[in-house]
Amino acid sequence: MNKIVLIGYMGVGKTVLGKKISENLKLAYYDLDDFIEKKVNLSVEDIFKSKGEIYFRRIERDCFEELMLKDESFVLSVGGGTPCYYENYKLLQDENVISVYLKASITMLVERLKTEKKTRPLVAQLTDEQLLEFVGKHLFERNFYYNKAKYTVEVDGKSISKISEEIISLL
Ligand code: S3P
Repeated sequence: MNKIVLIGYMGVGKTVLGKKISENLKLAYYDLDDFIEKKVNLSVEDIFKSKGEIYFRRIERDCFEELMLKDESFVLSVGGGTPCYYENYKLLQDENVISVYLKASITMLVERLKTEKKTRPLVAQLTDEQLLEFVGKHLFERNFYYNKAKYTVEVDGKSISKISEEIISLL
């Protein structure tokens, strides 16, 4: 069984790539944020707003566990923070899991997030200048977990097709 899990920072393209890879491999596709939103019947943005981040992390952990315990092969895109919590990190160590870290430069992430930050509660309120500082510090903290992935694929300057081909060639 192959559980292909795409990890990486907000804005790196986990959802677009996950969908594409699952289509190419003819595997089921799941997106953890979508799964959470359906479960709670609220957007991630509204969960943060009305219930706070600690609540979100609890639901995120429960939903991640539910997906990871599925008895099937799949491609799963998780949130930027998912691999950085101990219980989730442990689930990613399972022998059936193929974790792929989509690695982007800070410059690329900041440029993406400038236009995509609205729906991401952790960065929605930041100015462009604050965004650079925030992403730099956050990535430094999270890299410890991201670097535990089985494979790392650099995404800067590459098309979606090129990145998905690269990922598929690793599997
Ligand atoms: C988060 C990333 C988001 C979402 C939530 C928290 C994070 O997902 O799970 O806003 O902690 O990095 P994306 O990485 O898909 O934006």
